[in-house]
Amino acid sequence: MKKLLSTLLSCALLTPLLLSADDTPLGKHMDEMSGHLKSIRRLESFPEKAAAVRAAQEELIKCFAFIPALTEKTTDKDVQAQQIANYKKLLAKNYMLLCDYELAFLAKDEDKADKIYRELKSVKKDGHTEYIEE
Ligand code: HEM
Repeated sequence: MKKLLSTLLSCALLTPLLLSADDTPLGKHMDEMSGHLKSIRRLESFPEKAAAVRAAQEELIKCFAFIPALTEKTTDKDVQAQQIANYKKLLAKNYMLLCDYELAFLAKDEDKADKIYRELKSVKKDGHTEYIEE
C-alpha cells in the first residue's frame, strides 16, 4: 500500500514536467494544423493543396477557443488580458496568411505560395517565442 501511494505521488509530481506543448487541446489543434500544412509538400495538384490549406484554416479557427497554457498561469489580470488580446491578434494574422496561401494555390502561383509560406513560418515563430515556455 505504501509502495502504491509513493508510486502515485511520484507520477503526480512528474506529470507536469512530462507535459509537452502538444498535450493541451490548443496544442493538439496546432499539431493538426501543422500536419495539414506539411502534407502540402506531398500533394501534386493546386486544388489538393488549396483543400489542405482549408483544412489547416479549420484547425486554426478552433485555436481561438483556447488560451495558451503559459497565459493561463499569468496572475496579473490586466497583463493576462493584454496577452490574450495579442494572442488573438497573432492568430488572426496567421489566419489571414492562410487565406492568402489558399488564394495563391487557387491562382496556381507557386512563387507567391512560397513567399506566403515563409511569412507563415515567421508568424509561427513570433507566436511560439511569446506564448510557449522554454
Ligand atoms: C503556421 C503557424 C503555426 C504552426 C504550424 C504551429 C504549430 C504548432 C505545433 C505543432 C504545436 C505543438 C507543440 C510543438 O511542437 O511546438 C504548437 C503549439 C502551440 N502553439 Fe503553435 N503553430 C503556429 C502558430 C502559432 C501562433 C501564431 C501562436 C500564437 C498566437 C501559437 C501558439 C502556440 C501555443 C501557445 C502552443 C502550446 C499549446 C498551449 O500552450 O496550450 N502557434 N503550435
